[in-house]
Amino acid sequence: MTPEPAPTLAQLLTFYLEAGVDCALSEHPIDRLSDSGQGETLKTPSPAAPAAASMAPAAEPMPAPDAAIATAREAARTAASLEILRDMLEKFDGCALKSTATRLVFADGNPKARIMFVGEAPGRDEDIEGLPFVGRSGKLLDRMIASIGLDRSKVYIANVIPWRPPGNRTPTPLETQICLPFIQRQIELVDPDILVTLGNPSTQTLLSTREGIMKTRGRWFNYDTGTRVIRALATFHPAYLLRSPSYKRLSWQDLRAVAKALVE
Ligand code: URA
Repeated sequence: MTPEPAPTLAQLLTFYLEAGVDCALSEHPIDRLSDSGQGETLKTPSPAAPAAASMAPAAEPMPAPDAAIATAREAARTAASLEILRDMLEKFDGCALKSTATRLVFADGNPKARIMFVGEAPGRDEDIEGLPFVGRSGKLLDRMIASIGLDRSKVYIANVIPWRPPGNRTPTPLETQICLPFIQRQIELVDPDILVTLGNPSTQTLLSTREGIMKTRGRWFNYDTGTRVIRALATFHPAYLLRSPSYKRLSWQDLRAVAKALVE
């Protein structure tokens, strides 16, 4: 059998992009197929900066998972305002996603809003702009919000995870647990009358349910902020609606229910 020709660089890059790999994770490429099996840093042929890699400061080791969760809880608990919470997140080093993301994506909208939307995690556009829901799904979210006569100046928008996972992969359960105290405190500080969870991960994480979005959407839950119980409604994530537009009809019903609850 004739062996397949090795892929060209252009074909490899196309493959990576289609697989969602659109950012480098470290300064230097690593040969993970090296004989040592340890993954050796590939040498750059340039003699201009031979000692650059060895002079780079050693990366701080990540804290152990339990320690990271405990630090997150303590930091979030003591944040007296949204500004302080944001500042704490900027300084927090317990979540590995921070090191691969371009920047923190904290929130958008009005911190005094009566309604708060929470998605899963920023994507590429959000990572670039530093604001949640600014890409294609964000445009749809804007239209959903407009359908009940509101806009970003009258709602508050955030995510369970404030850093983009590389290649938009699903955040791991550990990353979610580490970030959870921050979004919980963010909800407590915004103190909306209505919380809307967008999609399955946000719904399951914040509303402590294992049921899927097909069962939870359109249902009202009680969300205990720690200082009061607020009404929470689960609905589809706009990215899901872009892929499955026939469900927009149901999400429209959910938004009507939110609009009704706002005047009750
Ligand atoms: N998807 C999310 O869950 N959040 C964003 O901010 C963007 C896309």
